[in-house]
Amino acid sequence: MLKGLIFDLDGVLTDSAKFHLAAWNNLAQELGIKLTSVQLDSLRGISRMDSLNLILKYGKQESKYTETQKEEFAAEKNEKFLEQVETMTPADILPGITALLADAKKAGLTMCIASASKNAPKILSKLGIASQFDQIVNPALLKRGKPDPEIYQKAQQLLQLHNDEVISFEDAAAGVAAIKAAHQFAVGIGDKQILKGADYIVKSTKELKLDQIVAVFKKNNK
Ligand code: BG6
Ligand code: MG
Repeated sequence: MLKGLIFDLDGVLTDSAKFHLAAWNNLAQELGIKLTSVQLDSLRGISRMDSLNLILKYGKQESKYTETQKEEFAAEKNEKFLEQVETMTPADILPGITALLADAKKAGLTMCIASASKNAPKILSKLGIASQFDQIVNPALLKRGKPDPEIYQKAQQLLQLHNDEVISFEDAAAGVAAIKAAHQFAVGIGDKQILKGADYIVKSTKELKLDQIVAVFKKNNK
């Protein structure tokens, strides 16, 4: 029986994913690395240092910089990202999300955030929806990033639920892989091809309707 919902944040509740990708693209250009759109998209959901290491790998610069230099690059990217976060308001909640959260509340579901972002609490508060979530996974306490299932397993544990009692939402290929590795029901938001491992896929958050998702969830759990 469905008891809880687990949400990624960037690209699911708000379009902050585009700020992350723009800030990474900026940094890559400064380092003389030209990322393809597929390479840039592969950074969705990936933790800060893993993203930087991936960019350096794409640019064949894996061993060019010291750890201290890499920390500086990551901090520079984060500063750019935070400038954008400062401009965020409740108007930046993606279409369909407010209704989805309200329907979930009405249905008595508990909710948790499973974001790799250390900035998640700040973003949720800018959006004015922090109090709607019962739990937030602290990514600083995790050993492995998405696509590892750890973050979704942790969210499920915080909600004190079993894997067949939750539905998890993601916009990233790495995130969908993490949900499926945690053996949870995955809702993918975005490109069908990129998110093909998900159990239920919509192009945009506008199409997220709780009753329709629950109908497929119930069918799958039979
Ligand atoms: C994820 C984003 O939610 O958080 C990634 O999809 C980002 O793009 C990651 O790299 C880490 O975020 P932050 O804010 O801690 O750098
Ligand atoms: Mg995301």
